[in-house]
Amino acid sequence: MCGIIGIASNKSVSVNIINALKKLEYRGYDSAGLATITNGEINEKKCPGRVEKLEKILFQNPSEGNLGIGHVRWATHGVPNEVNAHPHSSEIVSVVHNGIIENSDELKRVLEKSGKVFKSQTDTEVITVLLTEKLKNLDPLNAVFETLDMLRGSFALGIIFKNFKDFVIGARRGSPLAVGYSSNENYLGSDSYALKAMTNKISYLDDGDLCVISKNEVKFFNSKKDKINKEIFTLSEDKSQASKGNYKNFMIKEIFEQPITAKTCLKEYIDKIRGEINFYNLPVDPKKINKIALIGCGTAYHSCLIAKYWLEEFTSLSVETDIASEFRYRKVRFDKNTLYLFVSQSGETADTYAALELCKKENVKTCSVVNVVESSIARNSDCVLPIHAGPEIGVASTKAFIGQMLVLYLLSLKISEIRNDIDRKEYKNKINELKKIPSLLSESLKQEEKIQIIAKDIYKSNGSMFLGRGFSFPIALEGALKLKELSYLHAEGYPAGEMKHGPLALIEDGLPVVVIAPKDKYFEKTLSNMQEVIARGGKVLLLTNSGGKVISENIRFQIDLPESDITLTPFLFTIPLQLLSYHVALFKKCDIDKPRNLAKSVTVE
Ligand code: AGP
Repeated sequence: MCGIIGIASNKSVSVNIINALKKLEYRGYDSAGLATITNGEINEKKCPGRVEKLEKILFQNPSEGNLGIGHVRWATHGVPNEVNAHPHSSEIVSVVHNGIIENSDELKRVLEKSGKVFKSQTDTEVITVLLTEKLKNLDPLNAVFETLDMLRGSFALGIIFKNFKDFVIGARRGSPLAVGYSSNENYLGSDSYALKAMTNKISYLDDGDLCVISKNEVKFFNSKKDKINKEIFTLSEDKSQASKGNYKNFMIKEIFEQPITAKTCLKEYIDKIRGEINFYNLPVDPKKINKIALIGCGTAYHSCLIAKYWLEEFTSLSVETDIASEFRYRKVRFDKNTLYLFVSQSGETADTYAALELCKKENVKTCSVVNVVESSIARNSDCVLPIHAGPEIGVASTKAFIGQMLVLYLLSLKISEIRNDIDRKEYKNKINELKKIPSLLSESLKQEEKIQIIAKDIYKSNGSMFLGRGFSFPIALEGALKLKELSYLHAEGYPAGEMKHGPLALIEDGLPVVVIAPKDKYFEKTLSNMQEVIARGGKVLLLTNSGGKVISENIRFQIDLPESDITLTPFLFTIPLQLLSYHVALFKKCDIDKPRNLAKSVTVE
C-alpha cells in the first residue's frame, strides 16, 4: 500500500516526481524517497515523514537527471525510518515497490548465506539484491523477468539502472500500475490520478505485464516475454480537481460537499423527464436471480450492510454481506443465480479486488459500485455503477459513503421494481422522497455548532459506544469507525439489542454513548436500551428525528435531525457522526486528512 512513480524525459524529472508523489500520498505517508540517474550515478534521497520533507531536502540539495523513480510508503516490513524508506538501491540498480513479497524472508536467508548484506528490514531489498546479482550476466529486461520468477506475493515495481540511463522498467503482479504518455516524456504510476497533471493518455498494465519506459517510447511485454500492445485511454477532464478551497482540510470540505455529491449522483441515475431510475447495463436480469452478495471493506462494507436492509425491505431476494478479506478465504458456494456486488471508493482495495477475481474465476456475474471509474475493480467487473462523488482526498471516507449508499438505495429500488416486488405507486413515491436527500443533508449539516459543544465535552474520554437497531445499526458501526480512525478514541459500534449480552459491562460513569434512534419501528426498543445505559451512568448523546420533543431529562445531549422517509434515515444520521468525529479529532489536534497508520487506498492484504 505504497505509491510509485517513474519518469523518463528529455528534461530534469525531480520536480514532477515530487508533484506526483504528493498526489500519491493518499496511498501512504510515513516516508518518501526518490532516485534519479545524476551524472551517470544512482542518486538516492529519502526520509521518514511526508513528501513535503523530501521536497525540502531536494530544495537544499537538488537531484538533477532526466530519469527517475519515486515512492511514498505505508510501512509493512520494518518501521518507517530513512533506511527502510524506498527506493532501495545498490550501486547499479534502484527499486521502488508497492505490495508485499511473501517469500522475502526465505530469499533473504538464502542470500545472506551466500554473503549478501542487507541494510534495511524491508521485503523490497531482496529485489535489489537479486537484481544486482542477475545484472552481472543478464540484460535488464531478462534480469527483471528472472527476478520476478523468484518472487511470491502481490506487488508492483519501478526500477532504474545505472548503466542503462534511458529507461525505467515497471512490472505488475497483483498491484495496480498505469503508464502515461506525453511528448518527449513518458510515465509510470500506481494510478492515473498521480499522472493526471502531466497527461490524460493512459494505459494499464495487466497482471504479469512488464513495461519499458523511455522518453520517446513505451514497450509492453506479457509474462511470457512476448511483446504486446496496450490500448490507450483518454482520461476525462476532472473539473473538481482536489483543492481545499477555504476549508481547513479536505475532510470538512468533503463533509460539506455532500448535498452536492448527492444531487450529482441522483441526476446521473434518475431520468429528469420520466422520473425513472436508470440502470442500463446490469449484467443479469434481476428477475432471474435469487440472491445478492455484497462485498467490501471498512466504510464500504458498512454501506453493504445498510443495503442488505434496503434490499430485504424492497425485494424478495436473499441478501448476504461479506467483509472482502473474509470472503476471499472462505469456502464460498458460488452460485450462477447470485449477483456479486463489490463496493469500493478507490476501486483498488486489495482484498476487495481479490474477492472480485475469485468471482471472475468462478464465472459468476459481478458488478462494482466505485468512485474511481478507471480503477482495477471497475475495469474488471462485468458492470460498473459509479457514485460520481469526485475525488475524495481525506483518508476518512465521508462523501463516498453517502454516494455508495445512494447508488445502493437506487439499485435496491430498481431491482424491486423490475421484479414487481414493489408496487408502482410506492416506487414512484420512494423516488420523490429520495430527491429530497440533498436538501435534507444540508439541514443536517446545520447541527455543526451543537456538535462542536458535544465534541468539547467528550474528547478527553477513554472510550465511547455507538448503538442502533435496524438501518441504524450499520450507521452505529460507521460512526464508531469514523471516531476511532480520526481521533484515536476507542469506539465500539453495537446493535442496541446486544448490549445486555456483554457490552453493557463496559458502561461506567461518564462513558459517552451515542444512541441512534430515528422514529422507526425500533424507536421504543432503542430508547429502552438507552435507559439501561443511563441507569449505569453512561453519558448519552441521542440522535433522533422525533420532532424536537424532549425524550428524557437524563440525556446529556440530543440532536434533532429532519424527518424523512424512514428508509432514508441512514443518510441523515450519518452527518452528525461525521461531524462529531471531525471535531473530536480537531480538539485532540489529530492529523485530520491523514490519520496515523492509515492510507486512503489499501492495496496490500
Ligand atoms: C474509511 O473511512 C476508511 N478509511 C476505510 O475503512 C475504507 O473505507 C476501506 O479501506 C475501503 O476502501 P475502499 O472503499 O477504497 O475500498
